[in-house]
Amino acid sequence: MKTALIQKYNVPGPRYTSYPTVPYWNEPAFLYDNWLDSLKKSFRESNTEEGISLYIHLPFCESMCTFCGCNKRITKNHNVEHPYIEAVLKEWSLYCKLLNERPIIKEIHLGGGTPTFFSPKNLEDLINGIFSYANRAEHYEFSFEGHPNNTTHEHLQKLYDLDFRRVSFGVQDYSPVVQKAIHREQPFHNVAKVSLWAKEIGYTSISHDIIYGLPFQTADDVIDTIEKTKSLQPDRLAFYSYAHVPWIKGNGQRGFKDEDIPKDEEKRLLYQIGKELLLKNGYHEIGMDHFALKTDSLYDSFKSGNLHRNFMGYSSSKTKLMIGLGVSSISDSWYSFAQNEKNIEDYYQLLEWNKLPIFRGHSLTNEDLIIRKHILNLMCQFETSWDDDSSYFTEIPEILVQLREMEKDGLVTIQSNSIQVTDTGKPSVRNIYMAFDLLL
Ligand SMILES: C[S@@+](CC[C@H](N)C(=O)[O-])C[C@H]1O[C@@H](n2cnc3c(N)ncnc32)[C@H](O)[C@@H]1O
Ligand code: SF4
Repeated sequence: MKTALIQKYNVPGPRYTSYPTVPYWNEPAFLYDNWLDSLKKSFRESNTEEGISLYIHLPFCESMCTFCGCNKRITKNHNVEHPYIEAVLKEWSLYCKLLNERPIIKEIHLGGGTPTFFSPKNLEDLINGIFSYANRAEHYEFSFEGHPNNTTHEHLQKLYDLDFRRVSFGVQDYSPVVQKAIHREQPFHNVAKVSLWAKEIGYTSISHDIIYGLPFQTADDVIDTIEKTKSLQPDRLAFYSYAHVPWIKGNGQRGFKDEDIPKDEEKRLLYQIGKELLLKNGYHEIGMDHFALKTDSLYDSFKSGNLHRNFMGYSSSKTKLMIGLGVSSISDSWYSFAQNEKNIEDYYQLLEWNKLPIFRGHSLTNEDLIIRKHILNLMCQFETSWDDDSSYFTEIPEILVQLREMEKDGLVTIQSNSIQVTDTGKPSVRNIYMAFDLLL
């Protein structure tokens, strides 16, 4: 991509983990009772056919990484584990009472924070507690996020015995200078050890998270990190753009200043170098920020047009209903979103009162549903067509005007009722979603 184009499309945009994105939720119009209706409707429509997904947020970390944008609580006190698991199971029991039928679970993802902060025994109690009210779907996928510094062989074995087959490890970058700046000292052998254990135990999909654009990170650091990654052959890779979020509460004393963060063209170059090396090393781009080896199931799903995306990331199975348990989790009934309290004490308090710990949400309008469909198509297939919604596109000519401009710049090709993202356009795919996003 030429420098002028890089600058033209270097417009910050949302990550689109949901559409509408959280800052554009119509919170005053969100009603708790309507959320419950949409939850029950979605459950009736999907429980026996496709099953439901569960996201469980486990917020504790022993040490603060000063780049981190996740919702977490830093503590070395492991007495917090038990009450938290009890609270999540209480929340789950409230949902199950409301749903009036045993949920059939197709997907579970344990995210954080750091799920491996919790002992294997407490994680076992959590999963067994979940299944005391629910059944497994015929085909299910259970996954978790492991921190390479504290994932033990026992964690991996226990979660494998509980049917987890996918694990992602946070790597970020191997440079000692970068690691010092982000307060995350994590030698290569820690990542190698947990990745090899996971392979030996039988995990079928091991993923690594790498970030470009971190403070002090150079092109050589990205190359070195990807070469080291290649030697471990993870099945999947997330190659994230560093999101600078200094306003996140409690991000502590950073080992870097704003000027130490690569910006604009420098950052784009890190992405370009990293992406080319990943492709050369046998990884295939399968959606925004994600790469997979040909042998990984996500690659097949991408090729066959069956890739899906929700708050938990990409997956090969589609579920209409995702219930988010734990502090700050977001639930998605397809018709509505609802988010839990972000503060652990407030979350506990509402559960003590036997209330679902929700503090805000959004009910999707018809227009939201249409736009969300197109954004998801672009995220999962790099193309979308609007045969069914053509009247919508003629009524809102601004969308096509912006897309035509992108076509001139070589980012997309437009047919009568569809667009495809070109290879040149893939790094700017977020700008292409933004053309559909009328709320922006
Ligand atoms: C919850 S963490 C992973 C599990 C575990 N806590 C760990 O750090 O290994 C999820 C991932 O989010 C990504 N992440 C967190 N903050 C980010 C930021 N500000 N910009 C980009 N990616 C970020 C990191 O790649 C991280 O591995
Ligand atoms: S990156 Fe992971 S370990 Fe570090 S603070 Fe964030 S959630 Fe915790």
